[in-house]
Amino acid sequence: MSEPKGAGPGRGRWTAPDVAAMKRRGELIAVATAYDFPTARIADQAGVEVLLVGDSLGTVVLGYESTLPVTMADMLHHVKAVTRARPRALVVADMPFMSYQASIEEAVRNAGRFVQEGGADAVKLEGGARVAGAVRRIVEIGIPVMGHLGLTPQSVLGFGGYRVQGRDAAEAERLLGEARLLEECGCFSMVLEGIPASLGEAVSRAVGIPTIGIGAGPACDGQVLVSHDLLGLTQGHVPKFVRRYADLSGTMRDAFERYVADIKARRFPTEKESY
Ligand code: KIV
Repeated sequence: MSEPKGAGPGRGRWTAPDVAAMKRRGELIAVATAYDFPTARIADQAGVEVLLVGDSLGTVVLGYESTLPVTMADMLHHVKAVTRARPRALVVADMPFMSYQASIEEAVRNAGRFVQEGGADAVKLEGGARVAGAVRRIVEIGIPVMGHLGLTPQSVLGFGGYRVQGRDAAEAERLLGEARLLEECGCFSMVLEGIPASLGEAVSRAVGIPTIGIGAGPACDGQVLVSHDLLGLTQGHVPKFVRRYADLSGTMRDAFERYVADIKARRFPTEKESY
């Protein structure tokens, strides 16, 4: 891959090669999820370089207990909302469960839909060796692929819960091998989720493409958080790796409470707010 010219904010939209080049320049990559038009705009204005339309859509927006029920139709609906914001950030569409597992052909067709219908710049697939064929073919037809290893949420049933992966030496070795394989298959970057920080560091050193960590320690080449977690919109349990940068739940609840109170007290609307 040749060094892209004109990469970065202020000089056009981010491309997958631009993002890959950040690792070679030692620049850390900021990734956040987005599922809708306003969030995509605001995160983009704030300088997030990659917007991931994650299948976490299922749990944080649609109210499912896992990402498994999320469909291509759900994802396309939200990918389109994000790309309509015309962000400078690279938009990565997460391939939902059963959109790429049954055959390479189906994986390629669905990746193509995200680009052709959704306007996405890249797709993300969970897994290593088991998706290598699909990754290779999608990359071959010109669609950039972000890999995803470690605690891959679509495998929650197989894992028996959301458990940190790669804790023992054999597992860590396997994961390292899969990271090298994903690079060899042409991924431009990969998410490392829910693994020990030491393994996050080892993988980041072992591959030439950027690693984007979520619960994978500080040595990764970039970090990703679910926007609802970082904004404080998630209620109940939040994982240890989340840092909350705002309390939007509190802000929203307060706004709704004052709105209700104003209606009940006939303080809203006023004459100025009427025709
Ligand atoms: O679906 C998602 O949001 C993700 C990130 C958490 C990496 O896959």
